[in-house]
Amino acid sequence: MRPGRGIPKSTGSMAITVGIVAGLLGVTAVAAERETKPIVVAATKAPAKAEEAKSTKPPVVAPSVAALEAATKKAKAGDYDAARWHPIHFKPAIDKAKDGDCLACHSEILKAKPRAASEAGLPAGDVLAWYQTLDTYTGGQEDFHIRHMVTPFAGKVMNLSCTTCHQGNDPREESSHDQLVASAKAGSKEPSPFTLRKMVNPSETCLKCHGQFPAASMELPGPWHEIRADMEPEGVANGCLTCHETIRTNRHKVNYLKADGIEEAAKESSDTCYGCHGGRSWYRISYPYARTPWPDMPADTPEWAKGRPTAPEARFRIDAK
Ligand code: HEC
Ligand code: HEC
Ligand code: HEC
Ligand code: HEC
Ligand code: HEC
Repeated sequence: MRPGRGIPKSTGSMAITVGIVAGLLGVTAVAAERETKPIVVAATKAPAKAEEAKSTKPPVVAPSVAALEAATKKAKAGDYDAARWHPIHFKPAIDKAKDGDCLACHSEILKAKPRAASEAGLPAGDVLAWYQTLDTYTGGQEDFHIRHMVTPFAGKVMNLSCTTCHQGNDPREESSHDQLVASAKAGSKEPSPFTLRKMVNPSETCLKCHGQFPAASMELPGPWHEIRADMEPEGVANGCLTCHETIRTNRHKVNYLKADGIEEAAKESSDTCYGCHGGRSWYRISYPYARTPWPDMPADTPEWAKGRPTAPEARFRIDAK
């Protein structure tokens, strides 16, 4: 919560009261479009007995609806700690949270603006980051959350929710709560929390759209910027689709992407596809994507694809929830 940062404890509760009131009085137009409901999270089932037995931690019991409501009531009355430790921040309640539940207190997330100039005085408009040179990039610098949830390109190709990235924070591990994903991968039921002290797990979020171009999996002779000209002779707008019209066609069918919007935008340029598969890479590796079966898929699995899942993670499937 930006306004809360650095505010001395004594005035902290004032800040949160103002924040909550501002949030409840109608967020931004965009925020309002997202489900803005009072904070009532359906009580979730306690973990299955078998999993409990294997876990090294005490079982997590879902807070009741009444407990959530009581915490919200206290928070609204200006109790800063009740807001800060609101059970909605943690598993399992966070799994049922809608964007509107988070935005009721964190409406600043969709309003934050980057500095107009650096602290040394360099105006933001005078510098050009490399990702701003992509054809898909429009407008000036925006805050991270806004670039991913509000700006026009994001709205066309993505459908991210707060909980796509924020999976709660475990005070004991001081790490983000990603054991479901991690255990499913490792084939074990044992929780394996992310070890760095971050709010979200970048390997399960950012890397999916900011990894390297997976040229090796495709047996392509080189990186995209070198081969693009050969793949896109006169009249071919998107060289990816020359192959991907028929290969790995069951793609992007997850609740945090807009599969149709992506294919629509991709007709104009391969920058759409490349943008999330190498064009904005912050990492030296690529994400090991699920290999979803597609029509006429070859019977034998290439070496690199052995052990890959054949469907997206359960929590992202369209029919999930
Ligand atoms: C009842 C009000 C309330 C609700 C609802 C709420 N939060 Fe918070 N949240 C807070 C307060 C207060 C803090 C502490 C902020 C601070 O100390 O600057 C906080 C802290 C956080 C932080 C850490 C902030 C930091 O500066 O590191 C994150 C991330 C966060 N919340 C995300 C969420 C998400 C995601 C949701 C929805 C699932 C949510 N919150 C719902 C009030 C709320
Ligand atoms: C694409 C992933 C992603 C999505 C979607 C996302 N966040 Fe975040 N959020 C982050 C990251 C990364 C940080 C910085 C975390 C850190 O410092 O470890 C962050 C930081 C925050 C903070 C701390 C304050 C700040 O600005 O640094 C709050 C509060 C927060 N997010 C709330 C939300 C809410 C509410 C939503 C939904 C409207 C949301 N986030 C959606 C990734 C995401
Ligand atoms: C589902 C795909 C997706 C995920 C997940 C994702 N991003 Fe992005 N990111 C994008 C797209 C698309 C853009 C370009 C938006 C535009 O040009 O308007 C972008 C742009 C950016 C930018 C530059 C744009 C700017 O002005 O800020 C940064 C930095 C960034 N992402 C960091 C992250 C981090 C860190 C995470 C993980 C917490 C993350 N992204 C998760 C798709 C994603
Ligand atoms: C010459 C044909 C060809 C071109 C051009 C091509 N691909 Fe591929 N791509 C493939 C093949 C073959 C595979 C692997 C199929 C399989 O799973 O057996 C693949 C796999 C992928 C994967 C999954 C990688 C993994 O590790 O699971 C992604 C993502 C991808 N391509 C994106 C792109 C993008 C983006 C472009 C354009 C910038 C592109 N491809 C251009 C043939 C191509
Ligand atoms: C907004 C970011 C974004 C854009 C744009 C995008 N992708 Fe993806 N792509 C992803 C993400 C994230 C996944 C992983 C989805 C999952 O399983 O959770 C993915 C998965 C894939 C896969 C593996 C699918 C599977 O399940 O086998 C292929 C192949 C692929 N993309 C190719 C493309 C091509 C071709 C384009 C352009 C037509 C494109 N992508 C555009 C983000 C993007």
